[in-house]
Amino acid sequence: MEKFVIEGGTKLKGEVTISGAKNAAVAIIPATILAKGRCVIENIPNISDVTILLRILREMGCTVNLIDRTTVEIDTTYIHEPVVPYEMARHMRASYYFLGSLLGRCNEASVSMPGGCHFGVRPIDQHIKGFEALGASVSIDYGMINAKWDTPIGAHIYFDVVSVGATINVMLSAVKAKGLTVLENVAKEPHIVDLANFLNSMGADIRGAGTDVIKIRGVDMLRGTTYSIIPDQIEAGTYMVATAATGGDVLIKNVIPKHLESITDKLEKAGAEITEYDDAIRVVRRQPLIKTNVKTLPHPGFPTDMQPQITVMLCLAKGTSIITEGVWDNRFKYVDELRRMGANIQVDGRVAVVEGVDQLTGAPVKATDLRAGAALLIGGLMADGMTEIEDIYHIERGYENVVEKLQSLGANIQKVVVPDEVVAKAL
Ligand code: EPZ
Repeated sequence: MEKFVIEGGTKLKGEVTISGAKNAAVAIIPATILAKGRCVIENIPNISDVTILLRILREMGCTVNLIDRTTVEIDTTYIHEPVVPYEMARHMRASYYFLGSLLGRCNEASVSMPGGCHFGVRPIDQHIKGFEALGASVSIDYGMINAKWDTPIGAHIYFDVVSVGATINVMLSAVKAKGLTVLENVAKEPHIVDLANFLNSMGADIRGAGTDVIKIRGVDMLRGTTYSIIPDQIEAGTYMVATAATGGDVLIKNVIPKHLESITDKLEKAGAEITEYDDAIRVVRRQPLIKTNVKTLPHPGFPTDMQPQITVMLCLAKGTSIITEGVWDNRFKYVDELRRMGANIQVDGRVAVVEGVDQLTGAPVKATDLRAGAALLIGGLMADGMTEIEDIYHIERGYENVVEKLQSLGANIQKVVVPDEVVAKAL
């Protein structure tokens, strides 16, 4: 078993460089299938979710070569069969983007129901609604989602909820549909825009990404391309919050400050000073944390993927902060772990009431999902004493070299391997 061991109490100081965006990479990698050729993807994050997707491509018959630490060459000329089996898909949500890209490429796809973080029911009805509107027949048998069509025809699709996944999947499937597809009430996250830019660089005709309406004019074929993924908004936000939480001073490099505005706004209200540069942002906190209310919403609102991190920071803000989760039904599971560290948080449905305390204390805790794990990391950095975090594979799904990056900022953190026989004895 591996765990992170943190001795808290150090203020983060120095510079850190942000990696490529996980949630853009996990859409762009399946999208390379549409090219039937060679793509070079730059600024790719070295995280386990990316490794799994590249393995799925290899299993399908594609060639994948790592050119350097952040660049991968993918040749999708040959595909054996348009299938992603359970063993490959169960580890992560984004495996279902192969539904859209394989449909677009092969006119059929069979993909296992996906895994990923668990925060309430995660339906895929809007993905299916989109595929069906374009002419697909979709069935679910023995945990496999099967979709196929003869000739996809462009359609006008209004999504009932704003969904990142459905927007991406239906966009992938529609790039070659005949005529015009209009997607309304779509997600506007930076990774949606990045995927559209990637597809356009392959020859697609997509307009409006980043607004509520995306228009896609079908093209006959797409070609390989070279493309650089945007910096990770959530990784950047996590280091911003970690800096503010520890009262530190950090220059966070390789970011797009515009993508961070909702986070910047809340951190300023909570007492941090933020300076924006062209592609960097500096966070400093000199004064005590100030209570702040936060509501998560689809982009450009405050991201749900930053909710656990800001909640743990506000545990040390004097007074009462109210955190409202506006996207997921059940994203406060990690609060039990924070309580073990001395946090005073009451949860009622989608609302958490955080009463500031003077100090958190280190404790053994478990990461329940990716961003919950990030919150425990921040909690460990803020706490008095030693925190041990188990189930760190969740964290490594989305944060590249997190131990090295935090160490370079002065944090006292180690990754420790506990031999299995020691774990067994302790049980
Ligand atoms: C993406 O998940 C992200 N994952 C999540 O980030 C993120 O929390 C989420 O978007 C919201 O920003 C990836 O990009 C791989 P949704 P996704 O479809 O696409 C409901 C992280 O930490 N809904 O936008 O699965 C759904 O129940 C991860 O990096 C339907 O009702 O989220 C939810 O309430 C975790 N029907 C809301 O929409 C559907 O068909 C938003 O979900 C689809 C979704």
